[in-house]
Amino acid sequence: MGRKNTDKVVFHQIEVLDAGAKGVSVAKAPDGKVVFIPNVVPGDVVDIQTLKKRKAYYEGKAVKFHELSKHRVEPICQHFGVCGGCKWQNMNYDQQLFYKHNEVKNHLQRIGKIELPEFEPILGSEKQFFYRNKMEFSFSNSRWLTEKEIKNDVEFDNKNALGFHIPRMWDKILDIEKCYLQEDPSNAIRNEVRDFANEHQLAFFNPRAHEGLLRTLMIRTASTGEIMVLVQFFEDNQEERELLLNHLSNKFPEITSLQYVVNNKANDTIYDQDIVLFKGRHYILEEMEGLKFSINAKSFYQTNSNQAYELYKITRDFAGLTGNETVYDLYTGTGTIAQFVSKKAKKVIGVESVPDAILDAKANAERNNITNCDFFVGDMKVVFNDAFIAQNGQPDVIITDPPRDGMHKDVVEQIMKIAPKKVVYVSCNSATQARDLALMDEKYKVTRVRPVDMFPQTHHVENVVLLELK
Ligand SMILES: C[S@@+](CC[C@H](N)C(=O)[O-])C[C@H]1O[C@@H](n2cnc3c(N)ncnc32)[C@H](O)[C@@H]1O
Repeated sequence: MGRKNTDKVVFHQIEVLDAGAKGVSVAKAPDGKVVFIPNVVPGDVVDIQTLKKRKAYYEGKAVKFHELSKHRVEPICQHFGVCGGCKWQNMNYDQQLFYKHNEVKNHLQRIGKIELPEFEPILGSEKQFFYRNKMEFSFSNSRWLTEKEIKNDVEFDNKNALGFHIPRMWDKILDIEKCYLQEDPSNAIRNEVRDFANEHQLAFFNPRAHEGLLRTLMIRTASTGEIMVLVQFFEDNQEERELLLNHLSNKFPEITSLQYVVNNKANDTIYDQDIVLFKGRHYILEEMEGLKFSINAKSFYQTNSNQAYELYKITRDFAGLTGNETVYDLYTGTGTIAQFVSKKAKKVIGVESVPDAILDAKANAERNNITNCDFFVGDMKVVFNDAFIAQNGQPDVIITDPPRDGMHKDVVEQIMKIAPKKVVYVSCNSATQARDLALMDEKYKVTRVRPVDMFPQTHHVENVVLLELK
């Protein structure tokens, strides 16, 4: 099985050495093996109780603190430690940036094993809280109870919750009172929905029995002040649905797009569902450098809008465009990068697999009076072939911003085959980026690297790399 209990071994007075992957910190056990521990900060000295023993490492938890790290800060959120959302809120921001920068460096060196230039400094986010423009909350009639509530054997009218899944517990939801990730009126809207639903005895989803009216709530905000709210219902009950939606629309007239889905499938993803507009427009507008982007309920849009602007400026700078280039923007989403660089290019070709995103990309380009961008929908490894390149022209620069898995190896091969002078590789996962850079090493030299922090208080980090033909 390769997995057994360790009969409660405790390692005494161990210094936490590093902040590792997935927001879990790292220490060394007396036998030299690595121990992964959550909720501690490098520099803490702790007693560690082992929870799992694997061949090469332990998983454990801190049971006693002997010294607290000088890099610690007091978490501002009442839900810290239980909610899985902001695991690094107990570490000061400079230190967060230090570990993010380190992670990118380690991945590029250890996985990539390629020649690297000196890294440019990681770009921190000006906003360290309230930076997200999109949040999704889940309803459950099975609220996560605190240890105190369990100990005191408290009686409840109901155990309804609206908030986040407890890590690794598919059926338990932490009820959220205040989340520091999305600006107001996000907290007010979520709390109002929960309180109104409780008051009117609207049924919260029962994840085990698969029943109940209310399933998920999505809130999107934009720098233009526009707000989208989407309620996902499980049961199709028009009267109760309208009761809630009418109340929301009266209470929050600032909501510019109020939508809903009735979804009684097993899973709660809305991407294959028909979305119904209840009030307002079916999209909200985001604005960047005078460009307007419409975002519908299913669109991908970078979740930290301010920092997306910084990321795009770095991307455009790395591309070094003069106005004469044909640029491909692979994994273009709603075509934001394509349009952002379009003024400095002869033409831009965007490719993306989600049809709705491409519809948005085209509508956005039209809204922005951009005429030198073309957008195509399809799976990259299929669409991005020789015929496509013959039809759209040899690119001088390729910008690529794939999902966490990185690029399919056929896509990497195709880039190598057509060999544009420059490739700007934007990545939200430097491990898969490093793998892809290694595959491209035969032809390309990495000439610039700049990590960007889009997600303060978490371990996530974005990285922009410039590759130039050797
Ligand atoms: C990290 S996002 C980048 C979006 C865009 N560059 C932006 O900044 O808004 C990755 C995009 O790749 C798309 N995608 C995922 N797999 C794909 C595939 N196999 N072929 C084409 N696009 C894909 C996703 O739908 C998503 O829009």
